[in-house]
Amino acid sequence: MIRIFPMTAAHVAAVAELSAACFSEPWSAALIEAEIENPRGEILVAEKDGVFSGFVSLSFVLDEGTINNIAVKKEMRRTGIAKALLLEADRFAAAHGLSFLTLEVRMSNEAAQALYTSCGYESVGVRRAFYQKPTEDALLMTRFYTEERETV
Ligand SMILES: CC(C)(COP(=O)(O)OP(=O)(O)OC[C@H]1O[C@@H](n2cnc3c(N)ncnc32)[C@H](O)[C@@H]1OP(=O)(O)O)[C@@H](O)C(=O)NCCC(=O)NCCS
Repeated sequence: MIRIFPMTAAHVAAVAELSAACFSEPWSAALIEAEIENPRGEILVAEKDGVFSGFVSLSFVLDEGTINNIAVKKEMRRTGIAKALLLEADRFAAAHGLSFLTLEVRMSNEAAQALYTSCGYESVGVRRAFYQKPTEDALLMTRFYTEERETV
């Protein structure tokens, strides 16, 4: 069973470890811990059968939301955990009255792009050389919650 809930101090080390395993410029434990008190954001963690398996980091300004990061432990991928996290992100967006959630993803990251597309995100633009280590363009993807399309 997959359970999704807001991160507590007990999960900081696990989120930091997974972030370090997945990203070339990972967040520090201090940065992750600071998110617990962030009134404009949240890290949601996923547990599968009681075992920490992934997280998504969300933030917003007014009605504009951002997915800062999402990751699932390698050995637990392709079991629907990221999809469950993004479903919970939809609830977060509704609870905060957001018009959209937007994100950047490496051009080469086909797995993440397939995930986002399967969850209703659309490609809306490109940020040239957005990423370092290695340098790479970012694809901008957005999930809109209103009929009226906005330019981001
Ligand atoms: C991207 C990532 C979060 C996906 O997590 P996941 O739990 O394996 O994803 P899910 O099992 O919920 O997959 C849902 C759907 O996304 C798509 N998808 C996910 N991984 C995929 C892959 N490797 N190849 C193709 N499609 C994929 C599929 O449509 C999948 O549905 P299906 O399994 O029924 O075909 C995971 O691969 C990961 O942690 N990658 C490293 C970190 C990362 O790149 N994060 C994104 C930063 S922008």
